[in-house]
Amino acid sequence: MNGFVLELDRAQTADLEDFRRAVLAGLSSRPRAIPAKFLYDARGSALFDKICELPEYYLTRVETEILRTHAGEIAELAGANSALIEFGSGSSVKSRLLLDAMDPAVYAPIDISREHLDRSMALLQRDYPSLAIEAICADYMALDDLPKLPFSSRRLGFFPGSSIGNLEPDEALAFFRKARHLLGGEGALILGVDLKKDPERLHAAYNDSAGVTAAFTLNLLRRMNRELQATFELDAFAHEAFYNSADGRIEIYFRSLRPQSVTVASRNFTFAEGERVHTEYSYKYDIPQLEAMSRQASFRLRRIWTDPDRQFAVAYLIPA
Ligand code: AVJ
Repeated sequence: MNGFVLELDRAQTADLEDFRRAVLAGLSSRPRAIPAKFLYDARGSALFDKICELPEYYLTRVETEILRTHAGEIAELAGANSALIEFGSGSSVKSRLLLDAMDPAVYAPIDISREHLDRSMALLQRDYPSLAIEAICADYMALDDLPKLPFSSRRLGFFPGSSIGNLEPDEALAFFRKARHLLGGEGALILGVDLKKDPERLHAAYNDSAGVTAAFTLNLLRRMNRELQATFELDAFAHEAFYNSADGRIEIYFRSLRPQSVTVASRNFTFAEGERVHTEYSYKYDIPQLEAMSRQASFRLRRIWTDPDRQFAVAYLIPA
């Protein structure tokens, strides 16, 4: 099992051609936008790991605490012999909390980055030598079916970190439906989601005083410079993040600090002073919204755990 990575259709992985096409399309459209998944090159992923440790970024700490507190109950709900399937596994740190509590028959992380998968699976196999790991290198939104997983009965999906927040409402619903299909009639989905709260708290989480979130956003410019021979001047753009309470979301952009023109993959783009390029949404949910979305995807909320301050929720969804 060790070192085995199932690589699905090349077209499903984030390669250079995908990046080039998405950036050129995103800079040519109005409003300008580049999909958030491209923030996670090696340096972007390392910066995101640093974000998770920032004092202002409560999400990771609070979710980890919820999972730690209720892992036993989650394991009980899941029952023996399940397959733990993680959507966008990254470094697989949070799955360890579940692996420790429930001892599944197989762990199947799905991630778009082959490097991430290889590295984290090597670490995981070292710490869990008898665990069967079936890594899947793919964009989970583009998956039609899961490969047949050995020895397992229940498929237990895991989508932590409020990754759902990056998706727009129609995409989030599409994810729920996709998960419902992939996990099947006996399956369940464990979802970590950031809750609506005091806008100042939210604002601070995406505008940290150490500037790590700004570096994370602006790393996209570096990536375009390196991979697409772009000519972005890093100090001529700024990170911008604010809470849009009408839409219940943090919006993140990079903003041009002066009129300028930039070459990207041999094409020229002009930016007015103050012009923005959208990079991320981070939607915040409340429990009635989660219930409604679950219902629309034929799931039902079996159980929901929050921290005492109701900052973050972990939900256990089962087929309705
Ligand atoms: C990984 C999408 C959950 O929205 O909080 C954090 C990404 N971007 N700071 C989030 C992010 C800037 C993060 N998610």
